[in-house]
Amino acid sequence: MVRRAVDTARRSLAAPALFAGVVFWGLPTLPALAQVLPAKAQVCAACHGADGNSVTPGSPSLAAQPRLFLENTLVMVREGLRDIAVMRGMLKGFTDAEISAVARFYSSQTLKPQPPAADAARVARGATLSKAALCGTCHLPDYSGREQMPRLSGQREDFLFSSMRDFRDGSATGRDTIMAATLRGMSDEELRDLAHYFAQKP
Ligand code: HEC
Ligand code: HEC
Repeated sequence: MVRRAVDTARRSLAAPALFAGVVFWGLPTLPALAQVLPAKAQVCAACHGADGNSVTPGSPSLAAQPRLFLENTLVMVREGLRDIAVMRGMLKGFTDAEISAVARFYSSQTLKPQPPAADAARVARGATLSKAALCGTCHLPDYSGREQMPRLSGQREDFLFSSMRDFRDGSATGRDTIMAATLRGMSDEELRDLAHYFAQKP
């Protein structure tokens, strides 16, 4: 019930409102990115890195994420639908145009590779699992993501694992329920294999 309400809110809120925002504000305001990032978004760098490459445990990198995914997510966080405890209240007062600017900034940053720590057996298991579960049909075969589907390749391994565990356990409040269905029945070990595989993927 709650899930359905959240899903409905997500659809009605994120899609048309933001789409209008992008069309309306996207063209006239394209000065240098540094100028376009609102001053109040400086705080984000503390956890996500100035260029969107996070070195903070548990905080995802935002660099090279699809712009639409970032916009949708930021609206969900601003509206309190996706509840991230450490970010609570941080997006309050951001206009749709400012959210678009933040999304544009991070999506155009270059993602740096994760430190090499590849466990070949884990990588192989993760690749097999991902192929069998058809993860690439939505996240793309190279897992770079598109539109509302986030990039998985090169993301922090700790965040990939915890976000998949939250989806599987039904505790990913305000997130797309499609992911819970995809990961249903997977063990923690399998999620670790997947996280390791995606993190190490260029
Ligand atoms: C105190 C640390 C902290 C600060 C400051 C912070 N974040 Fe976050 N952010 C997090 C954590 C931790 C998560 C992951 C939450 C989860 O596990 O789902 C997150 C998740 C996100 C996500 C979702 C990414 C994904 O791949 O799912 C976006 C987008 C985001 N933050 C943007 C921002 C922006 C924009 C700001 C500044 C206004 C900001 N954050 C400030 C810690 C922070
Ligand atoms: C039907 C399309 C679809 C399939 C198939 C799918 N995903 Fe997703 N995935 C999504 C969408 C959409 C999101 C964004 C959810 C949200 O933000 O609410 C997502 C989010 C994620 C995230 C969170 C990343 C982040 O930055 O927040 C991870 C990790 C993930 N998927 C892994 C997987 C894995 C592993 C598989 C295969 C077992 C998979 N996905 C299959 C659509 C899909």
